[in-house]
Amino acid sequence: MDQIKVFAPATVANVGCGFDILGLALNSVGDELTVRKTETPGLTISSIHGAEYLPKEPEKNVATVAVQALIDALEWELDFGLDFELTKKVAPGSGLGSSASSSAAAVFAVNSLLDEPFEKKELVQFAMMGEKAASGVAHADNVAPSILGGFTLVRSYSPLDVIKLDYPKELYVTVVHPQIEVKTSDSKKILRKDIPLHDAITQWGNVGGLVAGLAKGDYDLIGRSLVDVVAEPVRSMLIPYFNEAKEAALNSGALGCSISGSGPSIFALTTNFEQAEEVAKAFSDLYREHSIDAIVYVSSVNPVGAEVIS
Ligand code: HSE
Repeated sequence: MDQIKVFAPATVANVGCGFDILGLALNSVGDELTVRKTETPGLTISSIHGAEYLPKEPEKNVATVAVQALIDALEWELDFGLDFELTKKVAPGSGLGSSASSSAAAVFAVNSLLDEPFEKKELVQFAMMGEKAASGVAHADNVAPSILGGFTLVRSYSPLDVIKLDYPKELYVTVVHPQIEVKTSDSKKILRKDIPLHDAITQWGNVGGLVAGLAKGDYDLIGRSLVDVVAEPVRSMLIPYFNEAKEAALNSGALGCSISGSGPSIFALTTNFEQAEEVAKAFSDLYREHSIDAIVYVSSVNPVGAEVIS
């Protein structure tokens, strides 16, 4: 095989209470990547569609940084090169794991081209290097669901221990992306470095509750647990009409609502498609009322993650 085209989904990281440890994959949006073997050894990026301003230098682009980490771990001398053609459908700075989709697609594609020296789960550690290049922190809560699909939990970073979670397949996600850009690096900087013990107790109670609620298909428990007392109170200040959007989602029947990743996107979980559409309408109406452009996605949870298109 000399060429492969893959898809890696956008993701909702944190899922409310699970800062840097929980994430889910979306169905409706993601990045596409074609990787071709070339004669001259080394990595090149021939084109980036949809975000032409992203760097094409292989040492600066998250996709090639992640692939370089994979190749370094293999310790193989490749006698051919790899060229990347990236089609970005996840907007950078959206809070939907844009850099993660590219990094996930890249390591998945190259691993497939090299006849799968690594298992899918092992690719997470390499895609994390793309995240480090993008935001300064090698977080895995976007790349893990983008590669593996479904809901994922990073139980530990050292050593890396990523768990795929059980969840009710009926679950729907509505996401609104108000058209402003928030850089993950900036959104990380404004967080408090210390968490009061009573907030930590609330937060880990909710993480446990959310994981249990997902496993049991207990929607009330999922809703009660979708509470973030660590990042949301600070980051919501960067998102126009966040409180109104959250209230509108809950009034439209959402189980819970919070910031997607580092924002500005906001996500809500519902138990079926019709309800998800109602939340989508509530989000659209709100931002239209305030003359802010916003893109709304309705998606089930993507069970597969990164996959070969052709
Ligand atoms: N967990 C990361 C953060 C996700 O919240 O900063 C970034 O998308």
